[in-house]
Amino acid sequence: MTAEMEVLVRSVDETRALGAALGGLLTGGECVALEGPLGAGKTHFVQGLARGLGVPAEEPVVSPTFVLVREYGGRLTLYHIDSYRLADSAELYELGLAEMLAQPDAVVAIEWADRTPEAVPAGAVWVALAHVEAEVRRVAIAWGDGVRLGALRGWQAG
Ligand SMILES: Nc1ncnc2c1ncn2[C@@H]1O[C@H](COP(=O)(O)OP(=O)(O)OP(=O)(O)O)[C@@H](O)[C@H]1O
Ligand SMILES: [Mg+2]
Repeated sequence: MTAEMEVLVRSVDETRALGAALGGLLTGGECVALEGPLGAGKTHFVQGLARGLGVPAEEPVVSPTFVLVREYGGRLTLYHIDSYRLADSAELYELGLAEMLAQPDAVVAIEWADRTPEAVPAGAVWVALAHVEAEVRRVAIAWGDGVRLGALRGWQAG
């Protein structure tokens, strides 16, 4: 069984704030699997996630689409991966996914994780973003039993 929450965010800042709230609850060893169409806000969510993991605000978090993986140092290490240009899950392993996931003080965020589902660990936190209106996105976050993210349920924008 999994726990789930669904919220509407009404601006880029709210998307980042939700990502930061999730990041603040992570303790290391987690995988955050993001899905949703082009421009849904996956990268903006990860920008917030990075702040919640203690990545300094001066450090810009940008899309890893072309470099495939970027690494940021904070309270926990953030590995930010994009599966958009990958042919299959095997390429994620070639990037060192297993080694990243094995680090107890790291969090792995994967954009377009639904393109490489075999590589997403069973206990991953899934974040699905969808367009509602120009600035409005619906964000569904699902996590497995034993992942203590219940505090997220009380998340309020602003
Ligand atoms: N509430 C919102 N949250 C996030 N982005 C928003 C929101 N409202 C508008 N936007 C716009 O939508 C776009 C989201 O871009 P972003 O790069 O985060 O999407 P993405 O899902 O990572 O796309 P890609 O699939 O290309 O990686 C940006 O242009 C941003 O300004
Ligand atoms: Mg992106």
